[in-house]
Amino acid sequence: MATNITFHPGTVSYGERNELLKQCGATIWLTGLSASGKSTIATALEQHLLHLHKSAYRLDGDNIRFGLNKDLGFSPKDREENIRRISEVSLLFAASTTISITSFISPYKADRDFARELHAKHDPALPFIEVFVDASIEECERRDPKGLYKKAKAGEIKEFTGISAPYEAPEKAEIHIDADKTSVEKSVEIIAKYLVEKGVIQT
Ligand code: ADX
Repeated sequence: MATNITFHPGTVSYGERNELLKQCGATIWLTGLSASGKSTIATALEQHLLHLHKSAYRLDGDNIRFGLNKDLGFSPKDREENIRRISEVSLLFAASTTISITSFISPYKADRDFARELHAKHDPALPFIEVFVDASIEECERRDPKGLYKKAKAGEIKEFTGISAPYEAPEKAEIHIDADKTSVEKSVEIIAKYLVEKGVIQT
């Protein structure tokens, strides 16, 4: 734990920065089971926003675990730390006027609430948009693109979300996508429409 440190505030506020750069920094927080489609939607959304000439950047659960969070596993404590770090990183991107798109299972409500509060503390005007990519466990098991559900059911992966570890579904997510029935294109359209309505982007 570091001691004798002093926080140095900047001179340009979140709002002023947005005005100067003509963009709105925000975090779009995708949550849902493994294989629910979070990463695919995040990738397509990032592409869509970039084509609108918005600065957008994706933080992906699997990818981040190859680098920044390579020291973390899937115990409840490690998942909490995973999400704590990503909350901080996502806020840094959003505060620097980028649209940060995170795709992590983020199974615990308390951890997602932590992310939300961290953003609100930085600036209450900074949008934190929780998107519940709601695919049923049956559908995720059917898709099983990485064969992980099969392994988890065979007991080869411990603490697998939805099988042997919990997923606490959001109750008040800003956006709820029925991922069993909604295409990737439609999901992007739903999120983009919300961003326009809230003034995060203009068409
Ligand atoms: S989180 O729970 O801490 O938010 P995160 O999104 O970073 O998880 O990583 C989830 C990805 O790791 C899954 O999509 C899957 O590919 C892989 N994975 C490996 N082991 C597990 C496990 N025990 N539970 C869930 N996902 C796992």
